[in-house]
Amino acid sequence: MEVIIRPDAETATALAARLIAERVRAKPYTVLGLATGRTMERVYDHLVALHRETALSFRNCGSFNLDEYIGLAAEDPQSYRHYMREKLFSRVDIDPARTHVPDGMATDLSAEALRYEALIREAGGIDLQLLGIGESGHIGFNEPLSALMSRTRDKALTLTTRQQNAAMFGGDVDAVPTRALTMGVGTILDAREVILVATGAAKAAILARAVEGPVTAMISASALQLHPRCKVIVDEAAAAAL
Ligand code: GLP
Repeated sequence: MEVIIRPDAETATALAARLIAERVRAKPYTVLGLATGRTMERVYDHLVALHRETALSFRNCGSFNLDEYIGLAAEDPQSYRHYMREKLFSRVDIDPARTHVPDGMATDLSAEALRYEALIREAGGIDLQLLGIGESGHIGFNEPLSALMSRTRDKALTLTTRQQNAAMFGGDVDAVPTRALTMGVGTILDAREVILVATGAAKAAILARAVEGPVTAMISASALQLHPRCKVIVDEAAAAAL
């Protein structure tokens, strides 16, 4: 794990975007693993700026998002499919047919999970996986007690996570779905390279446990210590407990 500390959220997210851009320029057919959340909004803004100002092209890229809420349709403004369309896909030249988000409306969730894993395999695996971290230590929606070798599946969300994400649901925790379809920790570890971005003081305690504590199924992000090519990009506030 390589920890890179930047002074603030702006420079941390800009660095993450620059690294992604470097990979896409080196390999136009890059398969990106993408994440959602407030931290990623700035990463995507920087990527959009690079697309506009430096002609960075995503035309031949594929993408797989980490997760989706169960019960939210793609058109639902709170769905991650909608988030991705708003924050990135509609602002760059990626082919929408090559973008993938798990289907939270699937009637057979196990079949959808298997389908998603098969699609990732068929695409040749994920070259670069972008990650945030939840205050529960989750990556994707791998809440505490996610097996380190877990694959895409449905997972119950903890109250901590639902409270953390309530802001995106008008502050109403009861409006936050209780389950999600998420890539597993094992799925994430299969990516050839990983970049985790964390900013803000609220992430400091969990980040220190994930980076410096023991590898444990109680903190899914700690599994990244096992990954041979993982960069953790943080601002000073998130690095405060390291
Ligand atoms: C959600 C996503 C996670 C993400 C987390 C962080 O829970 N499922 O993949 O890491 O949000 O969110 P934020 O960046 O808003 O703190």
